[in-house]
This record gives sequence, structure tokens and C-alpha cells, in this order.
Amino acid sequence: MITAHAVELRVGARVLLEEATFRIAAGDRIGLVGRNGAGKTTLTKTLAGQTLPSGGQITRSGDVGYLPQDPRTGDLDMIAMDRVLSARGLDDIVRAMRTTEAAMASTDDAVQETAMEKYSKLEARFTAAGGYGAESEASRIASNLGLDERVLGQTIGTLSGGQRRRVELARILFSGVETLLLDEPTNHLDADSILWLRDYLRSYPGGFVVISHDTELLRATVNKVFHLDANRGELDQYNLGWDAYLLQRETDEKRRKRERANTEKKASVLLAQADKMRAKATKAVAAQNMARRAERMLSSLEEVRASDKVARLRFPTPAPCGRTPLTASGLSKSYGSQEVFTDVGLAIDRGSRVVIVGLNGAGKTTLLRMLAGLDTPDTGEVRPGHGLKLGYYAQEHETLDTSRTVVENLRSAAPDLTDTQVRSVLGSFLFSGDDAEKPVRVLSGGEKTRLALAALVVSSANVLLLDEPTNNLDPASREEILGALRSYEGAVVLVSHDEGAVEALDPERVVLLPDGVEDLWGPDYADLISLA
Ligand SMILES: Nc1ncnc2c1ncn2[C@@H]1O[C@H](COP(=O)(O)OP(=O)(O)OP(=O)(O)O)[C@@H](O)[C@H]1O
Ligand SMILES: [Mg+2]
Repeated sequence: MITAHAVELRVGARVLLEEATFRIAAGDRIGLVGRNGAGKTTLTKTLAGQTLPSGGQITRSGDVGYLPQDPRTGDLDMIAMDRVLSARGLDDIVRAMRTTEAAMASTDDAVQETAMEKYSKLEARFTAAGGYGAESEASRIASNLGLDERVLGQTIGTLSGGQRRRVELARILFSGVETLLLDEPTNHLDADSILWLRDYLRSYPGGFVVISHDTELLRATVNKVFHLDANRGELDQYNLGWDAYLLQRETDEKRRKRERANTEKKASVLLAQADKMRAKATKAVAAQNMARRAERMLSSLEEVRASDKVARLRFPTPAPCGRTPLTASGLSKSYGSQEVFTDVGLAIDRGSRVVIVGLNGAGKTTLLRMLAGLDTPDTGEVRPGHGLKLGYYAQEHETLDTSRTVVENLRSAAPDLTDTQVRSVLGSFLFSGDDAEKPVRVLSGGEKTRLALAALVVSSANVLLLDEPTNNLDPASREEILGALRSYEGAVVLVSHDEGAVEALDPERVVLLPDGVEDLWGPDYADLISLA
């Protein structure tokens, strides 16, 4: 159980959360929602004990499993499977059993006897922790999350960011802890794994908090919703399932709007009154107080209005290019003896729309990285056509330089823009003033996505390679990018498990991985996006 009392959160001068009191007990299945940058990650990180709140207390009883939004760098030399097993201390017990076994072979009776006693204790611990069945349970969880034997045998350092996150998720689910804190757990999962996770969470005996932009997951699993309102700095707690929460939220919003209108009316009455009174010397002070009060009322409204802003997003007008700006043939990739895919070829015509479909580990990200020229294929080649200008959106935001600021990143993406132009693009992506000077390292998941998209927008690319571009985005920002996808005139190669994104793209063709088979897009494939 986690208990939070009067918790306050600040970053820099900004107050994310003024004061919140709540607890997460067994049976509490909480969905934590709020706009991008509202402070959801900051709150969960604090609940997990990785940072201290700026005010209030948090107490934890029982173990907590925390899945951060960004893949963490842990011990890079550890084998992935050992990382999963370590959740129940199994790797340590096994190691201790091995050393005790050696001591049991001792010729010294006393040594042998102590060793045997120790061994039976260890074995009891081993059994209690799940024993020999545990390893198969761990592989079962891992394989449900799209991690196969090959990946589990690799060291963490050789895994992609998405695979690392899945290893961490498998580890947390395997640990059997009392409380889970999951920050966007579906980000690197394919639809199959998402369905599995949904069922898993639905029957989870402990308590959990899940941050997710996947409303289906929330609808299926949560019985409470916490809404972090960035503008009021409040955590609105609803003891309701997802659909009931949405209804209630709507009612609350309406009420707030009414209250807003009331305040505006009162303020204008006050101002009018103050104007009349100002003429009389005896009433000047009272008039000034009234006016001040009205201004205070109105300025508190400004903050509320600011919350309704959404990034206005349009992809660039593509630079002119030849008929087929990008072709690839005979591409293959393997790790050791394991083939990821072989002999994949495709031709991207001007303005064409292609979606790449495949399960976790089928090599979708690898293929995009090859097309972007960031990975070298084992065989085959990628050939740029006449006038090709690529824009690559990386799932892990690795195109962003985290040590530099927001404005520096955009400037290097578009060196030709004037400073005013750069600021104005950033403004339309909701990075205003101070936000533009933040180092990218401190940005929230959705803010990083917005910045990476801003870099595409200024690029005049005629072929966009998009790897899960809707991950991390709040619903309003997601709608914006879907709109941008619909109206973009250049070519797009999309990897996404978001059905809405594929629908917005309205693809002509599909490439199926790992086989590399190309086909015309049809409704059957739409089903595949949701099933595969
Ligand atoms: N060290 C810091 N300095 C300045 N601002 C910071 C710092 N750390 C975080 N922030 C800001 O705090 C805000 C909250 O960040 P947080 O990651 O908690 O948001 P979030 O709700 O998880 O968003 P998302 O949905 O995009 O993941 C963001 O605007 C972020 O840029
Ligand atoms: Mg976050």
C-alpha cells in the first residue's frame, strides 16, 4: 500500500500539484490521466520513492514495482532473463545453493552438517520463491510481452529501448509485488501483448496506478481515475470506472464553464461600478479596491483558458522530388544465427502511403532505421532517389539531443530558419518562453514527441518515416497529428499499432514483416492492426 498525505510537487518555479492526499491499496486499480506535461510521470516517480516530494509525506508498505516511461539504463551486461528472475531474488538463491553444494562435499563433518542445514533452508526459500516452476513462469510472462528466447538470452546492453522496457515490465509482473506503478506500459507492445496485459491487470490482486494514453486499456481495467489538472495544480479523484468518469468529467467541465462565465459577469459588474465611483473623490479608494478585485478574478481565469491550448500541427510542404524518392532491395538483418527478416524490398513513390505491419520483434523499427540510413543492413541496399528529403520520427526520440535545449534542437533541425521563425514554430508546438530553454532531458514524454514532430515540420521532407508517432500523446495532441497525417502530401512509411493512426494515413500498401510480403491495403489488414 502507498499512502500520500498532502503531497506537493514543484519543478523549478512551477507548481505541478498543490496538495494531494490519497492511498493506493489492494484492489485499487487507478488510471492516472492528465495533459502532456501535467506531471503524471513526476507524481509516479515520487510515489515510487525515486524523488522526494517538495511537500507532504509518502509512506510505502510492501514492495512497489515501478515501470518508468523512459527505458532505464541498468546493468548493461546482465542477461535479460536473469534481470527478470532477479525480481524474486531467485538469481541470488541459486548462486548461494551452488556454493553450499560445494561445502556439503567437505570431509569435515561439522562443515558438512552446517552446509546441509543451510542448503535445506535455501531450498525452502527457493521453493517459496516459486522454485523450478518460476523460470517457466518468467518465460511465459516474457513471451506474452513479445520477448522470445533469443531476446531473453541477450545482454541488456544489446536490446532496443522498447525491448528493455518489456524486460522491465516482465520483471515487475513476475515479481508479484503488492503495488504496481506503470507509466505508459503499452508504448512498446503490439496488440496481442496489450490484450494480454489488459487481462493481467484486470485480475491483479494488488493495487496499481497506470498512466496510459490507451483508453481501451483504461476502460477495461481501472475502477478509479485520478485526473491531474496542470492548471489548477490539483488531483481530482474519481471513484469511478472509465466510462462513468468520462461522463462525470464532462459534467464537471460544464459546471466549471458556468462558474467561469459567472465570474466574468461579476468581474464586469465590479469594473463598471468602479468606473462610476471613481469620479467621486471620497470613493476613489473603494473604487480602486473593486477594480483590483475584478482583475484578480479575471487573471485566475486566464490560467484556466491556457489549458485548452493544443499544438497546431501541419506537416511540411514536401520539397519536389523524382517519381520514386526511395527504394530498397534485398534487405536482411540477423543477430547471430537468428534471422529478423530476409530479402525485404520496397519502392516508395512520391506521395505514396505505406504501413508496415508485424508482431513485436519482427523488425519494424530496424527496417525504418535502415531506410533512414541509421542502421546498415546485413545484405541489400537502400537507394535514395532524385531529390529525396527524409524526415525520420524515432520511437525512442533518439533523434533529439538530450543534453541541449529545446530551441537548440530545433535550430539544428532547420539551420536556415531565423530566430523569430524558430520561436514561432516552437510557440505553435506549445513551447513558449522558458519552455524553449529547457534541456530536452527534463521534458515529459509527450513534450519530447511534440518537439520531435516540430523538427519534422520544419524539414520540408518529402518522405516521412514515422515510428509509433502517437505514443505518449494526450488525446487532443493525438488528434492534431492524425489531422496532419491526413493532409500531408508527401510519402509516408508508418509503423504503428494505433488503428486510428493507420486509418488517418489511409494507406495504399502494406508491408508484412518478417516475410517482407507487400500487398495492397484492405480491410482485412485493418483487422490485423488490432489483432496482430
Ligand atoms: N528539472 C526540470 N526542470 C524544469 N522542468 C521540468 C523538470 N522536470 C520536469 N519538468 C517539467 O515538468 C512537467 C511535468 O513533467 P512530467 O514528465 O511529470 O509530465 P507528464 O504528465 O508525465 O507528461 P507526459 O504525458 O507527456 O508524459 C513538464 O512540463 C516537464 O517539462
Ligand atoms: Mg509522463
